Amino acid sequence: MKILVTAGPTREPLDPVRYLSNRSSGKMGYAIAQAALDTGHEVVLISGPVALAAPPRARTVQVTTSDEMYEAVHAWVRDADVCVLCAAVADFRPAKIEPRKIKKGARSSFTLELVPTRDILLSLRDLPRAENDPRPFVVGFAAETNDVLAHAQEKLRAKGCALIVANDVSGAGVGFDSDENELTLIFASGEIRVLARAKKTVLAASLVKIFHEFFNL
Ligand code: PMT
Repeated sequence: MKILVTAGPTREPLDPVRYLSNRSSGKMGYAIAQAALDTGHEVVLISGPVALAAPPRARTVQVTTSDEMYEAVHAWVRDADVCVLCAAVADFRPAKIEPRKIKKGARSSFTLELVPTRDILLSLRDLPRAENDPRPFVVGFAAETNDVLAHAQEKLRAKGCALIVANDVSGAGVGFDSDENELTLIFASGEIRVLARAKKTVLAASLVKIFHEFFNL
């Protein structure tokens, strides 16, 4: 199969030296890419800026902003059987990028206007496909700190994916920038499966096995 994976954070610039971002290390997405490669799949890994080495056999596309990630996903999605959107994409970006470094001057406060970024996962819901060319199996992640299941179920419904992977990022040692994670899988059918706390590499292998089940491999 051809598996497209997004990983890592995006960076949304304010000026030539500053940006808005988040704590995603890319470890979860890179582990999924590696698990897919290890089971013989072709992988396109679309990665935000991280400190990880690209998996040798993946086609890795490096991006920085959410707009670049959107364009890269749309450039590669038509070939994909499975799309796993694990990246922590910024929901908002500065309305204006200043061409020069913003000076502190005599300001006593500073207000930044943000506008929504394009929602990559949502954009895959209505992807036009030829009649005999089925939609890819689209997997979204939902990073939540509270009411995890309810928020993830709402994302599954709103974004129209086949599977949403709920990631409770409120605990210590799981979620962002850690080696372990704990995931709850919610399928469009309503089925729920829990992948207990384990190394991200182990969870990634379990996720790929689930893709095999879906495709009867
Ligand atoms: O990178 P690590 O340090 O290993 O951490 C892993 C992780 C915590 C980042 C990962 O497991 C995870 O939960 N990724 C999703 C993070 C996130 O941004 O979730 P969200 O609930 O804000 O977004 C929901 C979904 O929409 C995600 O699939 C996201 O990729 C997608 N999205 C969000 C915004 C946007 N503009 N476009 C999108 O496609």
